[in-house]
Amino acid sequence: MEKLHGIRACVFDAYGTLFDVAGPVAKLANEIGPHAEDISKLWRQKQLEYSWLRSLMGVHADFWHVTGDALDYALDQFHVSEPGLRDEILALYLKLDAYPEVADALAVVKAKGKLTAILSNGSPSMLDAAVRHAGLDKLFNMVLSVEDVGIYKPSRRVYRHAMQKLQIHDAPSICFVTSNTWDSHGAAHFGFQVVRVDRFGWKDDRLPGKPAALVKDLGELSALV
Ligand code: LAC
Repeated sequence: MEKLHGIRACVFDAYGTLFDVAGPVAKLANEIGPHAEDISKLWRQKQLEYSWLRSLMGVHADFWHVTGDALDYALDQFHVSEPGLRDEILALYLKLDAYPEVADALAVVKAKGKLTAILSNGSPSMLDAAVRHAGLDKLFNMVLSVEDVGIYKPSRRVYRHAMQKLQIHDAPSICFVTSNTWDSHGAAHFGFQVVRVDRFGWKDDRLPGKPAALVKDLGELSALV
């Protein structure tokens, strides 16, 4: 696979890329019942849909609010209403497991002299909790939330925010890493060199912007940058 040239910083999406968002429902599957996996998938789908639709509508709410609304939709759809269960599931979103290769992959990239950052829809408190719980806090130069911008990815304003905070004024000097196809297209169309992590066997979407590389996990990243 072709090495990327001129990379000064590696910027990471968080949910689904660094952290396993299927964890909360999987951990409480017995309490949730037979539709647990469907509920998990619908929860993620609605979480992202609400972020895109709120951006188009111009009615922003932070990702904790959107994540809670999406969970309420998914539980309602499958008639799960056990008192307290919704809050127990949502609380686990603050303690997501990082994928097993993440810490080592970040350490190698940092050892190569690259800046490292998160650029996520997550609210600052969500991201702080997840990064600390996973023990990754010393592996990032900065953690950036869309809350500084007030609109969700794939808005260009979010990707531009990362350039401003990193003080990198040449978009291709940033390697953006995500498992979300729509995010990979948005970042590539903006001008980042994008590495898509194929954790779920998804194809590229039919959208503008093409990722520069496809990897199976972050263990392959250091050879590219
Ligand atoms: C994020 C979601 C979109 O971390 O994965 O921004």
